[in-house]
Amino acid sequence: MTTVRYYTATTLDGFLADPDDSLDWLLRQPQEDGGFGSYAEFIAGVGALVMGSTTYEWVLAHLASTGEAWFYDMPTWVMTSRRLDAVPGADIRFASGGVVPVHEQMVAAADGRDLWIVGGGDLAGQFADAGLLDEIVVSIAPVTLGSGRPLLPRRYDLALLDTGRNGAFIGARYRFVGPLAEDRSAGDWSGPG
Ligand SMILES: NC(=O)c1ccc[n+]([C@@H]2O[C@H](COP(=O)([O-])OP(=O)(O)OC[C@H]3O[C@@H](n4cnc5c(N)ncnc54)[C@H](OP(=O)(O)O)[C@@H]3O)[C@@H](O)[C@H]2O)c1
Repeated sequence: MTTVRYYTATTLDGFLADPDDSLDWLLRQPQEDGGFGSYAEFIAGVGALVMGSTTYEWVLAHLASTGEAWFYDMPTWVMTSRRLDAVPGADIRFASGGVVPVHEQMVAAADGRDLWIVGGGDLAGQFADAGLLDEIVVSIAPVTLGSGRPLLPRRYDLALLDTGRNGAFIGARYRFVGPLAEDRSAGDWSGPG
């Protein structure tokens, strides 16, 4: 069965990036190969991924400044309402609007492997609101930023499945439950709870 995971690093105060999209605070943190939430183990199970355009443009800028090649072998959906350039040789599929058809296409492309929601937080929320998010895996860096790009700008209940340490990070894996119980009682939830 395909699992849809929002797998990301965050600051302790819940930001994915600075207000100016810098990840310098993240990239300088020590990590251990094979530690909790290991990227190598995670990515081996991923068959398709999806990201928003800010994240995609960060990756493009990173590739341009470092000379590195596109990171992913698997098909990558980029959500955008704009016309953006693809990376030559990379399997990048631009999409806009609702995430339900994107999810369908990703499941077909992943061929039994899992889906990765790379971010940002609102995009993960779009999948969650549609009842299409199964798990959230976070690596919490020992940093606070005070402001920036939010991890998940919604009100949800999660169930803690697992925790661990990896270098400077605390890792946690959660099952997505649904809207906050207090909101669900107000009757604004139509997906699986
Ligand atoms: N800490 C980490 O591990 C981590 C992980 C992921 C990302 N990041 C960083 O966090 C930041 C995230 O940026 P962000 O919060 O702006 O989120 P984002 O999801 O990367 O980008 C948001 C943009 O994507 C487009 N979009 C999203 N959903 C769409 C839809 N359904 N249809 C059409 N377009 C859609 C919209 O832009 P347009 O329509 O104008 O294109 C929207 O403004 C980035 O700096 C990224 O590098 C960090």
